[in-house]
Amino acid sequence: MSVKRTSIHGQWSSHWVFILAVTGSAVGLGNIWRFPYMVGESGGGAFVLLYVICVLLMGIPIMMAEILLGRRGRQSPVNTMRVLAEEEGLSRHWQLLGLMGMIAGFLILSYYSVIAGWTLAYIFRTGAGVFEGASADTTIKIFNELVSDPEKLLAWHTVFIVMCTVVVSRGVKSGLEQAVCYLMPALFALLLIMVGYAMSTDKFVEGLVYLFVPDFEKLAGNFREVFLNASGHAFFSLSLGMGAIMIYGSYLPDRASIFGTTMIIATADTVVALLASIAIFPIVFTYGLEPASGPSLIFITLPIAFGQMPGGAFFGTLFFFLVMIAAWTSGISLLEPAVTWLVENKGLTRIKATTVSGLVVWLLGICTILSFNHWAFSFNFFGLTKENGLFDIFDIITANFMLPIGGMLMAIFVGWRMARQSSRDELKVNEKIYRIWWFTIRYIAPAGVLLICLQAVGVL
Ligand code: PHE
Repeated sequence: MSVKRTSIHGQWSSHWVFILAVTGSAVGLGNIWRFPYMVGESGGGAFVLLYVICVLLMGIPIMMAEILLGRRGRQSPVNTMRVLAEEEGLSRHWQLLGLMGMIAGFLILSYYSVIAGWTLAYIFRTGAGVFEGASADTTIKIFNELVSDPEKLLAWHTVFIVMCTVVVSRGVKSGLEQAVCYLMPALFALLLIMVGYAMSTDKFVEGLVYLFVPDFEKLAGNFREVFLNASGHAFFSLSLGMGAIMIYGSYLPDRASIFGTTMIIATADTVVALLASIAIFPIVFTYGLEPASGPSLIFITLPIAFGQMPGGAFFGTLFFFLVMIAAWTSGISLLEPAVTWLVENKGLTRIKATTVSGLVVWLLGICTILSFNHWAFSFNFFGLTKENGLFDIFDIITANFMLPIGGMLMAIFVGWRMARQSSRDELKVNEKIYRIWWFTIRYIAPAGVLLICLQAVGVL
């Protein structure tokens, strides 16, 4: 039975806008900030390879499942899961999946916003030319000065949260369409310029080898951790498992092809992450920096390049501006599931719902801010020292566990609990693709997540 619902929150004007919006959600700090530092912490090529495998075997099929759930339910993730479960004669408890997603969204945005605040701060620092001719010592010092000042971090965090709430309160369509349409290609072009700079360094080839030639010996000792990080990051980077894609899917016109759009989005997301890394690692090696320096990695490496290249202040400002835009279009998608739920279930206006959610996230963000200074503590995570207490804990819990488990439950719902005809109606792909997808969503994707999580907590 094909179900026709309409969303009370609106619809994208075309499937192209949907592609742009989901790409806007997917491409963000995850690609430019998180991916390179995860690669660095995990020792290079092996992580990249595992990441690509996770995108292919879990990310793409689960993204298709999440979009189809959203389009079929056409409500906030909590209500979509409830309605679809009832329709299939299943327990209403499936709506808890939407609730977990909302909580994950709050937690992620709370630290995401603080890091986005760093990029805001760096727009001004590069613009003022502070990095001209800077050595690695100088860029490290400038970074440490920023993160050791909670007041500055709070100010930038506040600016970013306000930016997100303003867009979400007006409805994701207005403003967002233009932002993604022009600025994403600009970000892409700028990444190419950065890659051009990296090519001019002596260590370009060394950087490429580091990224693309997996060193399995290095992997032997910490396979569990690298695998957990690679799969977690696949979910994080594709915005999966928490309802962001589900809610965007709920605004998708009926005719649009879910398979085609998913392939475009996943490819764009992966290419951006790879380009960012190709730009960064040659600089890391040229200046003798530590690949495993963690969340500070892009903020200490790229400014060196901007300090050296002609027109660096201009390109640097533009670069951090575009990263900020990429973060912005992701930030709003982290808020959208909770806001739509508050509108549907609590009867709030969109503006009120956004204000409440924004406030919760803003408060939570203070934990991350203090993790880089007064509340900093370190702990051991699979042999890796994590130095920024609560920030690292939020990041590990959400990206490595909540998102993959959310994605796994979606896969189970679609693959095992929903009538096969329902997913077939929604996907409308040819039989061969459908069969491959069906097999992956039923067996590979859920088993993959389960295996990785059990391994991580030491059961396997
Ligand atoms: N995908 C975004 C990024 O890579 C982050 C994100 C995660 C957005 C989960 C929405 C949901 O930056």
